[in-house]
Amino acid sequence: MIIQLRLLMVEDSEEDSLLLLRALRKGGYDLVFERVETAAAMQEALNKQRWDIIISDYVMPQFSGLEALRLAKEREPDLPFILVSGQIGEEMAVDALRAGARDFVVKGNLSRLVPAIHRELQEAEVRRDRKRMEAELLRAQKLEMAGTIAGYVAHDFNNLLTPIWGYAEILKSRFPPEDEATKLCETIIAMAKQMSEINAELLTLARRGRIESAPLDLNEVVKKAVDQTSTAMVGITVHEELVPGSLIISGSEAQLLRAVSNLVANAVDAMSGGGLLRLVTRHASDGHQLGLHNHVPPSQYAILDVIDTGCGIPEDIIEKVFEPFYSTRKTDKRRGSGLGLSVAQAIVSDHGGYIKLLSEPGKGTTARLFLPLCDTPPCG
Ligand SMILES: Nc1ncnc2c1ncn2[C@@H]1O[C@H](COP(=O)(O)OP(=O)(O)O)[C@@H](O)[C@H]1O
Ligand SMILES: [Mg+2]
Repeated sequence: MIIQLRLLMVEDSEEDSLLLLRALRKGGYDLVFERVETAAAMQEALNKQRWDIIISDYVMPQFSGLEALRLAKEREPDLPFILVSGQIGEEMAVDALRAGARDFVVKGNLSRLVPAIHRELQEAEVRRDRKRMEAELLRAQKLEMAGTIAGYVAHDFNNLLTPIWGYAEILKSRFPPEDEATKLCETIIAMAKQMSEINAELLTLARRGRIESAPLDLNEVVKKAVDQTSTAMVGITVHEELVPGSLIISGSEAQLLRAVSNLVANAVDAMSGGGLLRLVTRHASDGHQLGLHNHVPPSQYAILDVIDTGCGIPEDIIEKVFEPFYSTRKTDKRRGSGLGLSVAQAIVSDHGGYIKLLSEPGKGTTARLFLPLCDTPPCG
C-alpha cells in the first residue's frame, strides 16, 4: 500500500537526505517533500502548506535540531517531529525528548525510521480525532446554552417586534410613496424583518428535539429553498441537478427547509460578484466512504451538495464556522447573525444527519448534507 506523506526535512546534507528519502520510499511512502536548512526556510515551508511530519538532523552548520524543534512546537504543536542524527549521546536524546521530540533515530539504523513514522502518524491521527471531538462537544454545549437563553428571550422579542413592524406599516401608509418618511418606515420594516429572521433561528434552537416527523422529499425541499432565496441571487446561475424520482426522508419540512435555505443563503452571500450555484442530490450507501466521521453509522443516505464558486472558507476558520454567533459578515448592509450554520447543523443532527463543509479558498465551497433515507433504521 502506498501512503502519501508530506514530509518537511530539516537537513544540511544532500547525501543524507537522499538516503532518508530512499528508506522512506522503500517503506511505501509516496512523498511530497521539501528540504530546508535554516530557520527562515523552515518558517517559509511551514507557511506554505500543511505537513504530516518533520524529520530533522541534530547538528547543522546554520541551524540545530533543537532550534527546529522549538520552532515546530511554537507553530504546530501537534505535528510529529523526529530527530535523526549521526550519532546519539544520552544527553542529546534526553534534551530532545524533553523539548518535545517524538522520537530519535540514528542514521546508521534507518530501519527504525519507517516504523517510527508509521506510529507517529497514527498517534497524530488519534490526537486530531480527540481534539475534534472535544471541539464538537464544546460546540454542542454552546448551542444548548444558546437554545436555553433563546427560550427565555425569543418570545418577548417577537412580542415587541410585532407592534414595531405593524406600526411602521401603518405609518408608511399615511405618507405618499415619494415622501422621506416613507423611506424611513421602509428601513424600520426591513430591520424588523431581519430581526424576526434572527428570532426565528433562535426559536429553532429553543425548540430543539421537538420535531413533528412526516415523510418528505428532499428534492422538493431543495426546490423550495431555491425559490425562497431567488430574489437575493443577483448574477448567480442556478443549476438544480436533482436525482430522478424522489429522495424520501422523514422529518419536519419547515425545519429542513430552514436548514437548506441557510446553506443556500451562505452560498449566495459568498458569491457577491456572481457565480454558479449547483444543488446536487443523490443516494449514497456508505457514510464512511463519503468522508463521514466514525461516530456516524454507515447507512443509506440522501445527500445534498450545495456547491458555490464563491470566496471559500480559509482553513484556519473552517473549524469555527459552525459555532453559534460566529460570523465574518460584518461590513455588508446585512450583518450576519452567525446562526445560519449552527442552526442548520442542529436541525440536520436532530434528523439523524450531518453537515460537512469542503472548501477551497478563492475557488468555492461545498456544503454537503447527509440525511438518513426513510427505509433505514434511523427513520423507524
Ligand atoms: N458557502 C460559504 N462560502 C464562504 N464562507 C462561508 C460559507 N458558508 C459559511 N461561510 C462562513 O461561515 C460563517 C458562518 O456562517 P453562518 O453560520 O451561516 O453565519 P452568517 O451567515 O450569519 O455569517 C460566515 O460568516 C462565513 O464566514
Ligand atoms: Mg449564513
